[in-house]
Amino acid sequence: MHHPDPHSFYDATQPRAKQLRLKLDVDFRTKRIDGEVVLVFGHPVSGRLDLDTKGLEIRGVQVPGKGDIAWAMGDPVAILGQRLRLDLPEATEEVAISYRTGTDAMALQWLDPEQTEGKTAPFLFSQCQQIHARTLLPCQDTPLARIAYQAEVSVPEGLTAVMSAGPVGDEATDGGRHVFRFAMPQPIPSYLLALAVGRLESRELGPRARVWAEPETVAAAAWEFAGVEDMILKAEEVFGPYPWERYDMLVLPPSFPYGGMENPRMTFLTPTLLAGDRSLVDVVAHELAHSWTGNLVTNASMEHFWLNEGFTVWAERRILRILHGDDAATLSWALGQKALEDGLERFKDEPQLTVLRMHLEGIDPDDAFSSIPYEKGARLVAALEREVGEDKFLHFIRDYMDAFRFTSITTEQFCAFANDRLPGALAAVDAHAYLDLPGLPATAPTFRSAQLDTLTALAASWSQGVRPGADQSAGWSPTELQVFLQKLPRLLTTADAAWLDEHLHLMDRGNHEILVDWLTLAAAADYEPAFARIREVLLRVGRMKYLRALYGALGLHARTRALAREIFAAASAGYHGLSRRTVQSVIAGYPD
Ligand code: BES
Ligand code: ZN
Repeated sequence: MHHPDPHSFYDATQPRAKQLRLKLDVDFRTKRIDGEVVLVFGHPVSGRLDLDTKGLEIRGVQVPGKGDIAWAMGDPVAILGQRLRLDLPEATEEVAISYRTGTDAMALQWLDPEQTEGKTAPFLFSQCQQIHARTLLPCQDTPLARIAYQAEVSVPEGLTAVMSAGPVGDEATDGGRHVFRFAMPQPIPSYLLALAVGRLESRELGPRARVWAEPETVAAAAWEFAGVEDMILKAEEVFGPYPWERYDMLVLPPSFPYGGMENPRMTFLTPTLLAGDRSLVDVVAHELAHSWTGNLVTNASMEHFWLNEGFTVWAERRILRILHGDDAATLSWALGQKALEDGLERFKDEPQLTVLRMHLEGIDPDDAFSSIPYEKGARLVAALEREVGEDKFLHFIRDYMDAFRFTSITTEQFCAFANDRLPGALAAVDAHAYLDLPGLPATAPTFRSAQLDTLTALAASWSQGVRPGADQSAGWSPTELQVFLQKLPRLLTTADAAWLDEHLHLMDRGNHEILVDWLTLAAAADYEPAFARIREVLLRVGRMKYLRALYGALGLHARTRALAREIFAAASAGYHGLSRRTVQSVIAGYPD
């Protein structure tokens, strides 16, 4: 017995599935999926096989030629779910499991028509990272067990299914249904399995990219992301040829709990990126960069999450620098610095969650989630880059991608490789302090520009009554404005908030980063004119990062706490399960 991933029943001494064949029947009436999954081993195997499940109803298990075989569910275990144990007969090449998803499958959000843009059809989307694939299908739910897959998805006629895979055909079937078929030929970790079903249209954006969205938003999405081919070209300058053929994107309804999710061949995106001025496309650069760092070379378990996110943040800013120059990248590092400080503050009583190489036995990876693996991780990568020089580092990154492509690796494997190819570099930047010690090392790289210094000084003199002039702020890019807002004192007076409201016209910004940063300041200032807008945003948008910030800031005053509770009571049914849990924990931390 060998359990290399603390979040999975996967046993490395048992057979490993190489491929899945999936049949999914999507039932919007019961909000369940009837599924059949065939695990293909690629050679004859036998003996015990432990799979991950959570909330699944198992209906039967069969081996072709041998008929039904016995199966047993273990007791429910907190965080992990339930082990499904099979005993495979001699010379088993594949095993088929039929099952049904539970009504509260964490991987799935079922939206009523009112929660979509068009308001006429329901919508379903999945989010399997970190460990929710097991609520969608029984599987070896660890990034260590990579799988190729084929899928057949049956949905009501009129709706379209997309997956993290290439489409290979679709046809109408009996009973007013339509079947969509997919193939993902390359081996991916289970957390990258993804499905969405809704009233969807697409627009071509270039030779290998298109964007999918509801018909009402697809034109805006196509405009916002028109630059994606250019971004792919820039990413290829960093990493080499794009390895997944197509880079398509799906814009989801606003309850999607993340900014973006790097599902291969079909990045999922929040509609809050549709700012109308292309100012939030850095999220696309991030998800695109995951095509290499994360999807091609994958963290072996959530304990090594920084290998995914730290490298990807570094790559995102590298791409940004090629596209928009040093100053733009520096501002992005500054926003990251703020996110990092917030993360360190949030975990000040749990310093073990601020190291990069985490120990997550008994800890829910969604609870350990923060900006720390992103930003501390990216700073370690940047430190290495500065240590050895840009050119040498770029070669190293390419070699790293080549050496580990389509594998899932640990921090130790990364370090061994780095020590081999860049002797002495890890020690020179004190990698140990990043990997195993809490907080941010004092030697971490810093990022400065004249423009950032100006914004920092201006915000710092706010308390002395210094205000940006109208000409000055009118010339700011969205990111500059955001940096300024983030550097203001956290606790403003209502008069301060009124000044910002009046002079910077913040209430009706299409850029949700600016809007939410502003509303967070306004909530913390108990600024009543913003309450209606806060309510509107919290009722519509389910992105966890925004919910955490806004509900957190509403916790500072008695009447904003009352407002938060009232809004949550009205909004929670429309939130994704993960978002609901996040808000519940924020509100539970309120002082009364
Ligand atoms: N893979 C993450 C999203 C994620 C992380 C989902 C952990 C579930 C668990 C994705 O690549 C990401 O980091 N998204 C960010 C955007 C980014 C620009 C930092 C987000 O959603 O805000
Ligand atoms: Zn990411």
